[in-house]
Amino acid sequence: MMKERLQKLQDEALAALQQAADLNALQDVRVQYLGKKGALTDVMKGMRDLSPEERPAIGQLVNTLKDQIEAVFAERQTLLNQAAIDARLASEKIDVTLPGRGTFAGSKHPVTLVTEEIVDIFSRLGFVVEEGPEIEQDFYNFEALNIPKDHPARDMQDTFYISDDLVLRTHTSPVQIRTMLKNKPPVRVIAPGTVYRRDSDITHSPMFHQIEGFLVDEKVTFGDLKGILTHFLNQFFGKGQDVRFRPSFFPFTEPSAEVDIACVICGGKGCRVCSQTGWLEILGCGMIDPAVFESVEYDAGSCSGFAFGMGLERIAMLKYGVNDLRLFFENDLRFLRQF
Ligand code: PHE
Repeated sequence: MMKERLQKLQDEALAALQQAADLNALQDVRVQYLGKKGALTDVMKGMRDLSPEERPAIGQLVNTLKDQIEAVFAERQTLLNQAAIDARLASEKIDVTLPGRGTFAGSKHPVTLVTEEIVDIFSRLGFVVEEGPEIEQDFYNFEALNIPKDHPARDMQDTFYISDDLVLRTHTSPVQIRTMLKNKPPVRVIAPGTVYRRDSDITHSPMFHQIEGFLVDEKVTFGDLKGILTHFLNQFFGKGQDVRFRPSFFPFTEPSAEVDIACVICGGKGCRVCSQTGWLEILGCGMIDPAVFESVEYDAGSCSGFAFGMGLERIAMLKYGVNDLRLFFENDLRFLRQF
């Protein structure tokens, strides 16, 4: 009777241990048989009802079964422990050979890029960089550039006045005056900077950037101006870039011209960007007016020179195919990251 009961317990217990799917279930099986109220404990309690002859043999069987259950339990525990560790390792596995995601290190603003490129081209021609203040005296911004008070030319540039005598500079041309007052000829200067005009719509910003260039030496001619600007535009927009000079007017140059390049969008056939003309206006220039030389005490009889100025946002728009001026000032990273 007792033997059969133990035999049945053995079969059940060992099967239950094998079937336990995880450590908790395994522990439950152990308690079920060996715990205080476990099936085997029950059997041991019943030992006192056995006859003294039966007791030793049954006692031995019980002990053997107990040891067997403990042994199988330990074996299964080790196995399930290892399985749990393996599962965790598999789920936390990282591939250290994958390339990193990287961070965006920032990029130069397109206006900075074109400024640097233009400065670079003129540096190689012997021009040096000069800068001037953005809050400028009337004398440098207008008077010395042959734009006297009440002269109609002042209307060409809607000015921000700080006081009667102080303005936010409307162009980079005052750097011409400051440099020439400081240095005797020859001078070759390239002067990038921020300028301000009371103008704000889709194609005008109250603050924008210009770059000024000028050269004064003996016997400088309009041919030199044409040659240097044509060279520059071919370097900047690519060899074979068509260029034309149109007569124009500026108070501080005489003669004056505006320079057009063949439309970089349609190649000169005519499109929306060039208003069907095939040409894009790119800069203003001319031979420095003797009146300007007079204000800086240069001798117009023994020297001559040329000057030019251009808007950098416009150049950047043409170079990179940007169709909206406002993109330069909105600081939208989706835009800036493309440069
Ligand atoms: N200062 C002029 C402007 O802002 C450009 C220019 C510079 C023209 C030098 C001629 C010579 O429009």
